[in-house]
Amino acid sequence: MSHRRFPPDFVFGAATSAFQIEGATTRDGRGPSIWDTFCATPGRVAGGDTGEPACDHLTRYRSDVQLLRELGVSAYRFSVAWPRIFPTGLETRPLAAGLDVYERLVDALGEAGIAPWLTLYHWDLPQGLQDHGGWANRLSIDAFTRLAEAVARRMGPRVGHYITHNEPWCVAHLGHVTGEHAPGHRDQWPEALTVAHHVLVSHGRATLALRAEAPHAQVGITLNLCPAYPASPSAADADATRHFDGFFNRWYLDPVLGRGYPTDQIADYQRLGRLPPGPLPFVADGDLETIAVRTDFLGINYYSRAICRSDAIPETENLPRVLHEVGPEGRTDIGWEVFPQGLGDLLRRLAALAPGLPIVVTENGASDATPPDADGRVPDHRRRAYLQSHLDACQRAIADGVPLVGYFAWSLMDNFEWAYGYAQRFGLFWVDYTTLERRWKDSARWYARLTAHGDLDRADRDGGSTPPVTPDAPRS
Ligand code: FCB
Repeated sequence: MSHRRFPPDFVFGAATSAFQIEGATTRDGRGPSIWDTFCATPGRVAGGDTGEPACDHLTRYRSDVQLLRELGVSAYRFSVAWPRIFPTGLETRPLAAGLDVYERLVDALGEAGIAPWLTLYHWDLPQGLQDHGGWANRLSIDAFTRLAEAVARRMGPRVGHYITHNEPWCVAHLGHVTGEHAPGHRDQWPEALTVAHHVLVSHGRATLALRAEAPHAQVGITLNLCPAYPASPSAADADATRHFDGFFNRWYLDPVLGRGYPTDQIADYQRLGRLPPGPLPFVADGDLETIAVRTDFLGINYYSRAICRSDAIPETENLPRVLHEVGPEGRTDIGWEVFPQGLGDLLRRLAALAPGLPIVVTENGASDATPPDADGRVPDHRRRAYLQSHLDACQRAIADGVPLVGYFAWSLMDNFEWAYGYAQRFGLFWVDYTTLERRWKDSARWYARLTAHGDLDRADRDGGSTPPVTPDAPRS
């Protein structure tokens, strides 16, 4: 008998986001988002890639729902494109045609028996709001609350799960410090921390709006968390690890869990000149209470770990490294280390930090560009191994009592990987960007075997060289 089974009600899903798959960026009055602007700026996105036609999902959504059905998932996580619904973000009334797009998708999912998990913000801010300062301006908080209300009002009881934000760290840091993401600002630390704060406040406000419009729905936020490990047992590396954890994880987790911003990290930022001395300038009365709104679950995206080495002392004064930049399992195509233990460590930490709060892995997956072979089969063994080891970590965490209730593979299909363009492929399904056909990869066949029985041993055993469990999906 297998001991590597998931509970019967465990949610197996697949995830995407609007800008990464939809295309049709000017259809039916959709306004430009900051990612359209960013893509149009030379040198920002690899290969000059843009959101057109992406996976042409807006046209092909019905056959994509069919893929989900064949994959056997019980849930699909997707996001709405804000500028389809409020073209500049400043309007007070939503555009009906934009809401129609997601209503059609939700209805198709309903017919397929797949639960929609709807993310409100996966990075495509209306350019009209950016023209007013974007997330650094509190007017974006009100605008986002209007989006939450409009979407929940239209979807009614058909959407049972909402995620307010995807990965606020990326929005703030990649968008305003490294400049790798839209809007592409660089080294703007006070702006980045202001953005992070307003995003978190808007999470709280949107959660209340969703509760008012859709009292039945479960609401959460998705944070990208990255467990940090010291490169050596030195005190300096321990401090570097504390700082990284504060910067990446606790700055978001702590206020969401009602603990306010971490005081050690505030002190670090003030010492480094990233924040002025004194109280945090962007925090208004009541903000921390708003951010700490009770949620029904915590979404986490996990891809890799960080190994922290101090730069506060000369390398020669530090202890020899015991951890090196990449461990025995290597890296995926995008350069991220494969470290499944990190997911287990993270889940146990969260379970201890927020006892009883259900946790959902809302993204996890690997970039592996293995192409179709001569027979048309896609032998993406590295992705399959990545999914196997990370789902194994999930199953062990559940056995240890972690309230992990779901897992969404990133991603349903290859898509626009932000600044990397289309060259990085995270999909369970191969997308041929010439014909836009989708094709099963071996990892998708393995995942379909897992979703069928929730049993890791059986998913592995039934694989081998046997034919696929389901035929190739019909082409759209
Ligand atoms: C996450 C994003 C998602 C995708 C994966 C690879 O940070 O949420 O859109 O790009 O990384």
